[in-house]
Amino acid sequence: MNVADSNEIGRHLKAKGLVETQDPQDASIYLVNTCTVRQHAEDRAFSEIGRLGRWKAKRPGRKVVVSGCAAERTKEYLEDRFPFIDLVVGAKSIENFNEIAGRLLDRRATDEDLDYAVPAVNEKVAAFVTSMRGCNYSCTYCIVPYVRGREIYHSIDQILAEVRDRVSEGAREITLLGQTVNSYRHGQHRFADLLRAVAGIDGVERIRFISPHPYYMTDRVIETMATVPQVCESLHLPVQSGSNTMLKSMMRNYTREHYIALAGKMRQAVPDMTLSTDIIVGFPGETEEDFRQTLSLVEELQFDWGFVFKYSAREGTPAAELECLPQQLIEERHQRCLELVDRIALKKRLDLVGTIQDVLIEELGVGRTRTNYKVHVRRESRNLESAGRAQTIKYMFGAKRKPDRAQPQQTKRKPARSASPREAQAR
Ligand code: 5AD
Ligand code: SF4
Repeated sequence: MNVADSNEIGRHLKAKGLVETQDPQDASIYLVNTCTVRQHAEDRAFSEIGRLGRWKAKRPGRKVVVSGCAAERTKEYLEDRFPFIDLVVGAKSIENFNEIAGRLLDRRATDEDLDYAVPAVNEKVAAFVTSMRGCNYSCTYCIVPYVRGREIYHSIDQILAEVRDRVSEGAREITLLGQTVNSYRHGQHRFADLLRAVAGIDGVERIRFISPHPYYMTDRVIETMATVPQVCESLHLPVQSGSNTMLKSMMRNYTREHYIALAGKMRQAVPDMTLSTDIIVGFPGETEEDFRQTLSLVEELQFDWGFVFKYSAREGTPAAELECLPQQLIEERHQRCLELVDRIALKKRLDLVGTIQDVLIEELGVGRTRTNYKVHVRRESRNLESAGRAQTIKYMFGAKRKPDRAQPQQTKRKPARSASPREAQAR
């Protein structure tokens, strides 16, 4: 969602004649698009912003813009702590970014030597298109409904127009985005209709969507995934916990049994599908038995990969009122859960060895399977890529290491989010 927002902001700025740059030293505008879902993300954004005081002082006329969820939640604090910030645009106002930033850029007349630039955005072959914003759920740990507001749906026409724009810029794969993307409704249209409409656009070869909520994985959506060829065989379906007690306390609106039944239905309808998930460990009140229920769910469903998060209390959410578990216990459970998720993920990747997959090349030497594994293409296969134009190649997976040596040895590792769990072993 944040990447898509950054891209959207980038497009607005480019439309105003700005040029993007990879190098902050060349830039005249530095945009920090922030996330507040977990404390760690917010802390990283604040330290990045802290460094910009010196960046700004180096050249007159430079501007610092802070946008996104953390900006929405902490606007006053940000302005107070970092007085050099020129503009704060909260997540609820991203759609009005053009107008708001217009005011900033209108001052350009007084900054004669200003040569605006934005961070580089790269979404040529695989593009994100936002179909809805906000969230009507009230998961008790989650800050999103507070910083992004209630659900707002774009019309099918508006979404299709954006899809056409992205295709004309070179996109072959479209990922529809929304906090609960499959709750989409506009007039008579529901999410399954949206998928079919996007598939009807010439040039769209692959469709993905993130993040769906289990509650809205209706039979119509499943049937659409199974029958519309453009919709990829991959589903990221956050489960959060395998314990019904925790799911209830999180207010997730489904049970372990519902989720398992749904996964079974999905896999039956789309047999080669990869299924991935999000898990939170250490939610307040989580007992060892609750946690084991999560581990057993992971074992039972054999997720192809997963993101495991340590519970992070977000001020203002109902769960933040509850007593937190000791941090050390959260760390331990995080480690145990990651090890299990990663062990299964590795086994699944090794199953790909010797198979032939369609890989859509996104940049030189790197592509993605329909099932959403990122693939580093062997050097000798690279001549299959035509210069400057993306294409889908048939790619035979090879093992980087022998399977029997490839068991995960690590006892300590980086958080799953940054560890690219979808990265395949092919090289
Ligand atoms: N603590 C930990 N993880 C969280 N997530 C959302 N809020 C929190 C929180 N307070 C995770 C959920 C969600 C993903 C995007 O982030 O797993 O699916
Ligand atoms: Fe947050 Fe729950 Fe909404 Fe997802 S569905 S954005 S976890 S409140």
